[in-house]
Amino acid sequence: MNPAAGNLADLSPSAVSLRGSWDDVPAAVITAIETRTGPIEQVQPAQAGYSSHVAATVYSGHRRVFVKGLRSEHPAASTQGCEAAVNPYVVSLGPRLLWRVETDGWDVLGFEHLEGRSADYRQGSEDLTLVADVMTQLGALAAGDAPVSRAEQRWAAQNQDASVVELLHGDTLLHTDWHHTNMLVTSERTVSLVDWATATVGAAWIDPACWVVWLIYAGHSPRSAEQWAARVPAWRAAGRHALDAFSEVLAVYWRHIAEHHPNRMTGELRDAGAQWAAYRRSGVPVGAYG
Ligand SMILES: Nc1ncnc2c1ncn2[C@@H]1O[C@H](COP(=O)(O)OP(=O)(O)O)[C@@H](O)[C@H]1O
Ligand SMILES: [Mg+2]
Repeated sequence: MNPAAGNLADLSPSAVSLRGSWDDVPAAVITAIETRTGPIEQVQPAQAGYSSHVAATVYSGHRRVFVKGLRSEHPAASTQGCEAAVNPYVVSLGPRLLWRVETDGWDVLGFEHLEGRSADYRQGSEDLTLVADVMTQLGALAAGDAPVSRAEQRWAAQNQDASVVELLHGDTLLHTDWHHTNMLVTSERTVSLVDWATATVGAAWIDPACWVVWLIYAGHSPRSAEQWAARVPAWRAAGRHALDAFSEVLAVYWRHIAEHHPNRMTGELRDAGAQWAAYRRSGVPVGAYG
């Protein structure tokens, strides 16, 4: 498997994907979207991602807009509000939100369309530096007042320990979903961050820690994954105990995801999470980031 390709064929769609077809969108919703885009002439479904009912590039004249929508009654629809709320804070790092349409049972966001490909997280990839750089930039934003959930609440189900709850607390805006398909690498070798559905405010080292699991999934050893995470200043400033504790939280989180959405990809992410926690439990060697 080539995880960096984000191959949907490796997924069990019924187990994981919410994706439907553009034809599922009611005519009244299309009409409302067209008041923003102009008459839609072409719709090109997104090749990656699976957490929206529709995600597509729509064409109207010379204009292109990236549209993602969820049925409002679905529990995941609240993530649309999260993306909308966080967008003004992160336009320097990702696409601008152009409009939001909430009508006839649908919640739809229209973003500036970006040209790019998914990041490649495999060993030796030149994208790794770019992702570490964009993560560093995100960590430097003064965005702790973004109206999104707090890390303490976000991982409450995976952690009951009050001392760990304390460790997660912070005032950094975090992306948290470092799935390689949420990083669009442009031909100018910049990375745009898309899919802020699970943006969270918390301790600054949480984002590089979330990335570690994706790096192990892409084939890195835990040590190599941590060396990449250590490119991000917040990781280097993090306490050993905080990282140890959060590796356990993420292992529980990914186990839960794999149980509830069983497919090859989530199984491998569960194994990556477990591998990282085991590595930390065995004691990270001094100088491992050198
Ligand atoms: N603004 C954008 N312009 C172009 N393509 C985008 C844009 N935003 C997202 N995409 C592409 O569409 C895919 C799905 O969008 P995403 O926001 O990740 O939704 P989800 O993962 O919830 O389905 C992304 O993985 C990316 O490949
Ligand atoms: Mg996505």
